[in-house]
Amino acid sequence: MILITGGAGFIGSNFVLDWLAQSAEPVINLDKLTYAGNLENLAALGDDPRHSFVQGDMGEPGVVDALLARHQPRAVLNFAAESHVDRSIHGPEDFIQTNIVGTFRVLEAVRAYWANLPAEQKTAFRFLHVSTDEVYGSLGAQDAAFTEEHRYEPNSPYSASKAASDHLVRAYHHTYGLPVLTTNCSNNYGPFHFPEKLIPLLIVNALAGKPLPVYGDGLQVRDWLYVKDHCSAIRAVLQGGRLGEVYNVGGWNEKTNIEIVHTVCALLDELRPRADGAPYQAQITYVTDRPGHDRRYAIDARKIERELGWKPAEDFDSGIRKTVQWYLANPAWVEHVQSGAYREWVQTQYAGNAS
Ligand code: NAD
Ligand code: DAU
Repeated sequence: MILITGGAGFIGSNFVLDWLAQSAEPVINLDKLTYAGNLENLAALGDDPRHSFVQGDMGEPGVVDALLARHQPRAVLNFAAESHVDRSIHGPEDFIQTNIVGTFRVLEAVRAYWANLPAEQKTAFRFLHVSTDEVYGSLGAQDAAFTEEHRYEPNSPYSASKAASDHLVRAYHHTYGLPVLTTNCSNNYGPFHFPEKLIPLLIVNALAGKPLPVYGDGLQVRDWLYVKDHCSAIRAVLQGGRLGEVYNVGGWNEKTNIEIVHTVCALLDELRPRADGAPYQAQITYVTDRPGHDRRYAIDARKIERELGWKPAEDFDSGIRKTVQWYLANPAWVEHVQSGAYREWVQTQYAGNAS
């Protein structure tokens, strides 16, 4: 079996659903259930015995150690993090605790567990750390996309905390020989994306008749990847990645923020036109820019393609259409996230077996 952290978040829950759709191998899912953790994302699993959910903080000493001792996984995948840049600007402390101290605790637990495994399991074991392109900083308009050799230049408390965690992972490989793999991925979008991030925020605000906030001039560039392609990249790296290596993951899909806004508005005009017949673009509102806002991210994903044969399956037109359709088809999920009712899901759905 595998142990994952953060499997009730956006990418982690997509990963668990994809994993169990393709494999009989069980998943232990450790998640603290912060505001970003939502067990409704995993509702489709019902009481599938291959999925064991454990509510807990990976940063608390002993938590991961106990799970490793009990379940003896062949791999640990670290998705858990505080992930929202704007929150990191308002309050960096949780980012330091979870992304740095939390990853450190997981590494310590994994190191002790791995050191005592029998030779064959020790050789097969993997620790995979899920990270971000934001550790590389910001690109100018004409700069080449980030390769794995790009210098670390994090600019926000979020990206600095992720950079620190990446360095710890690297150090545990070099110092202790821990069999680690790191992925640095670009912006994801798709189902179960928490509506504080740009794309789901646009969809839910548009439908609610609220402003569509565009930071600054809206010409910042992000490289968008459909979340299921990120999941397939992680599976490919887990299976075939070279130990100690970093793999950049991206969609070759750079868009300005304002292009994203116009695309989402146009899809909603087609799929759920406003009652008054006006275009959703009427709701666009330019607002104060994010402090220290990175101008452009772009991933050079040639290494993972060359070494592991991975390529994104979804292009942006189909991925964004599926995403808008998903939000339109799941008003209860959106309503529960907005009202906070999703936080009661543990009690209602998992009474007695979430520990
Ligand atoms: P998310 O915020 O949606 O989910 C994070 C999950 O981690 C939540 O379920 C939360 O409850 C859990 N968590 C937080 N602190 C924890 C702790 N101390 N112990 C256990 N669980 C804890 O994040 P996401 O967007 O799914 O991102 C997942 C990972 O992928 C993160 O490491 C992030 O840095 C990275 N990443 C995200 C993107 C993106 O576009 N969203 C892109 C590249 C990389
Ligand atoms: O690049 C990978 C990163 O992508 C991940 O590591 C982060 O966890 C993830 O949150 C995401 O970070 P961004 O800051 O790029 O994503 P966000 O959705 O917050 O913003 C995308 C862009 O849109 C960014 O340039 C800021 C802008 N924006 C965002 C919001 C929420 C707006 O213009 N208006 C908004 O209301």
